[in-house]
Amino acid sequence: MNQFDAAAVTWDQQARHHERAELLAKSLRDLGVLNPKARVFEYGCGTGLLSMKIASEVKELVAADSSTGMIKEMQEKLNAPEYRQGMKNVKAVLLDLEKDEPLESGYDVILTSMTLHHVKDLQAVLKKCYQMTNNGGRFCIADLDEEDGSFHRTESVPHNGFCRKALSKCLREAGYSHTDSRALMTLYRETPDGEENEFTVFLLTAYK
Ligand SMILES: C[S@@+](CC[C@H](N)C(=O)[O-])C[C@H]1O[C@@H](n2cnc3c(N)ncnc32)[C@H](O)[C@@H]1O
Repeated sequence: MNQFDAAAVTWDQQARHHERAELLAKSLRDLGVLNPKARVFEYGCGTGLLSMKIASEVKELVAADSSTGMIKEMQEKLNAPEYRQGMKNVKAVLLDLEKDEPLESGYDVILTSMTLHHVKDLQAVLKKCYQMTNNGGRFCIADLDEEDGSFHRTESVPHNGFCRKALSKCLREAGYSHTDSRALMTLYRETPDGEENEFTVFLLTAYK
């Protein structure tokens, strides 16, 4: 069981996770990324909070995560009578692009939120996302700006956020072009000393 399997059961109980998904959904709408013809892939979907908010605005949505616990939570929601009818275009998939083959290509939009900083082999994952993107399609990344490691407190993660310029370079090396970024939101976390730390989250977009 990994840390996310353990966190999956109570993930949806945290208001900040819903707020983040809501804000990102709004920003994607504002950017004109969502449309009824779009085939969308969300990587690192967690319990599906973002995917399930935008599903009715797109043609098809495949949501993937490497945590069995997260995918189980999402699948349970998809099976529930109150969701089932409106979510026929949504599929939850267990997938780790660091190890697994990419899905078949043909996605107009690839989304990922607060996931890439957990990915060791970033370049391998970006290349597989590129393979899965349609020509003219867009890749949208919401993640932490570079920070000092305190966001995850004692836990160590592969990337303490990202320098947007360096991430844009990685995207261009994977094949994407026309990268652009903007501030998405600020997150607040208490330090072990009881102080409040601020962390900013960007939304970076790129085209294939
Ligand atoms: C901080 S959570 C964010 C979940 C969701 N996107 C959200 O914003 O609520 C990071 C997610 O990335 C997933 N993840 C981490 N490494 C991954 C990998 N290599 N492949 C796919 N998913 C991964 C975790 O299982 C977890 O669900």
